[in-house]
Amino acid sequence: MTTLVESRDDAVVVLDRHASAIEAVARDLVHAVRDRRNGGLDSAETVAAARDAWELLPVALRGAVRRFRRHSGVSGRLVLRGLPIAEHLLGDTPMVAGSVQREASIPAALLLMVAGGLGDPVAYLPEKSGALVQDVVPVPGHEAVQGNTGSIMLSFHIENAFHEHRPDYVMLLCLRADHERVAGTRTVSIREVLPMLSAGSRKALSLTEFETEAPPSFGGGQAATEPHAVLTGAPEDPDLLIDFTATRPLTERGAAAVAELGELFEKVSGVSRLAPGDLVIVDNHVTAHGRTSFTPRYDGRDRWLQRTFVASHLRRSRNRRPGDGYIIAS
Ligand SMILES: [Fe+2]
Repeated sequence: MTTLVESRDDAVVVLDRHASAIEAVARDLVHAVRDRRNGGLDSAETVAAARDAWELLPVALRGAVRRFRRHSGVSGRLVLRGLPIAEHLLGDTPMVAGSVQREASIPAALLLMVAGGLGDPVAYLPEKSGALVQDVVPVPGHEAVQGNTGSIMLSFHIENAFHEHRPDYVMLLCLRADHERVAGTRTVSIREVLPMLSAGSRKALSLTEFETEAPPSFGGGQAATEPHAVLTGAPEDPDLLIDFTATRPLTERGAAAVAELGELFEKVSGVSRLAPGDLVIVDNHVTAHGRTSFTPRYDGRDRWLQRTFVASHLRRSRNRRPGDGYIIAS
């Protein structure tokens, strides 16, 4: 199986050597969740057990994730390779919109443990019914959707850019590659692009002259944001807030700056062609992500990623999370 990661600055950590130790911890967590019977994957008890289990994982994994948490590097992306996903236990790739995981499994356990190392898992009630572990799979009839169910080129975006409590990290774990192995997870960080961006565009992108709508995965009916800036924070290392499908410039200078930014994104972006057992973690403050196109066959063996969002400081969204749970209600 070939795996390509092409990027100028890519943090890749190969964990094959530790796969059996990681799998043992994940398997214990799966058994603990199943034995408890009352919890299920999304319960507070399961999240707590995953948080504790994180401490038992090899230092090679925990160290890489914790270093990334402190500073996500120029690319704002970390690829953990060679994770155990128990491929022999996988069923058919799901084919329906809104497909999620509700039962414990090795891949789901991995996602929840790493979420515990980065912060806490979080989900949004209007999207995928608020499940903490979500399937990212192509859905028949959704080919042209600019979202996780589509298969055409998915444009660059900060995840849930419109949302006040968008995730701090996006994690994508590959269970199955696409048939032709052409689907690439694209990322580009503002740190890679900033030195090339003109002074005029930097200034224009720092003005509150943009608004952003909710993605199709939220089912429509959500209001667009108040006017916001695309670049905020430290001028030399700003945060990025843009979704090339959903963000609308409100001025001509804003439109010109977005066009320049988009061209630079195309020029410098890195592409990861994920193989089963690869986990990509994206710093959602500085790095936008997207996907190249691929051709689904809907034969049960299509591309299958599982996704979990992470909040590094869960408390910030407390007034939107009933019962101090992990689901943001609106
Ligand atoms: Fe996304």
